[in-house]
Amino acid sequence: MKPSEVVYFILKEKKLFTPQSDCIARAYAPSNIALCKYWGKRDQQLNLPVTSSLSVSLGDRGSYVALSISAASHDTIILNGNPVEPVSAFAKRFAIFMDLFRHSPAPFYFHAEIISTIPVGAGLASSACGFASLVLALDQLFNWQLTPRELSILARLGSGSASRSLWSGFVEWQCGERVDGMDSHGIPLDVIWPDLCIGLLIFTDKEKPISSRVAMQCTLETSPLYHDWPQHVAHDLALIKQAIIQKDFNLLAATAEANAVAMHATMQSAVPAIDYCLPATRAAMEKVWQLRKDGIAVYFTQDAGSNLKLLFLRHDLALVRQNFKHVEVVTPFLSSGEAIDDEHKVK
Ligand code: PMV
Repeated sequence: MKPSEVVYFILKEKKLFTPQSDCIARAYAPSNIALCKYWGKRDQQLNLPVTSSLSVSLGDRGSYVALSISAASHDTIILNGNPVEPVSAFAKRFAIFMDLFRHSPAPFYFHAEIISTIPVGAGLASSACGFASLVLALDQLFNWQLTPRELSILARLGSGSASRSLWSGFVEWQCGERVDGMDSHGIPLDVIWPDLCIGLLIFTDKEKPISSRVAMQCTLETSPLYHDWPQHVAHDLALIKQAIIQKDFNLLAATAEANAVAMHATMQSAVPAIDYCLPATRAAMEKVWQLRKDGIAVYFTQDAGSNLKLLFLRHDLALVRQNFKHVEVVTPFLSSGEAIDDEHKVK
């Protein structure tokens, strides 16, 4: 099945593709980091995963978009105040996704002003929040009034992890079984954990050397360890859900760290080997492990990039800041008014 057929299936009852030309649709979607990772597709065109996965959103770190119909004869994109070249990889990926929604008899193009509060392409799920915010804006622009689950399916067509960025907090992306993927979407967990903190350790904001799309397919096809990955995920996912319900931080964070390490071991055994770590990444891992030996409950997770995300509880904030001078702290369950507002003070 093709992505365009999925779009048609979801939108067939709607006033399909008639853009409201004088409207500017504004939307925001948070980035998310997987505590139990998605790595490998059962359908590459529809981004259907081999396994389910589970993430936590990154609060105010995400993508804001203002979407309208462009007067130009091609899509126009302004990213963080700078025009994006139509020939760039970013613009091409945008256009391919937006083509799914251009079925009006008269050709039309989009104008998107995007503010990303997370570095783009650096393994910080900028594509997840990017595609999720785009489908939210499209829903407004075309007045479809889709459900969050339908929007999650559409966002998945842009990037798998985007299916989890339609909600804040914990979200499970159920892999589903159907070939059309209509049962493969995010489902939010009704749990709030205000003390949970995420620390972003950003070592580089450069584009990652190999995209997650290419890396996960190479792992699936060549890694001798990939065979066991779905069993690891089933085990880790059950533990992580149990830990969230019981608010058992050590179980949650230890399982998330082990899951990330297993994912990277699986890709390191691919041919050719895939290694996203920089020396600074490994040094930070060593530091985390040393801190745990010293009795501080700090853990990490890592996606398809060299940056790390620390997991810790709010009472360890000052210690984490002492040990990681450049850490950027995100509190997924606090509203901005309640957020940690300066170096050592929690409101
Ligand atoms: O959605 P993609 O294609 O950017 O892949 C995301 C892959 C990981 O970030 C490594 C894991 C995950 O579940 O988000």
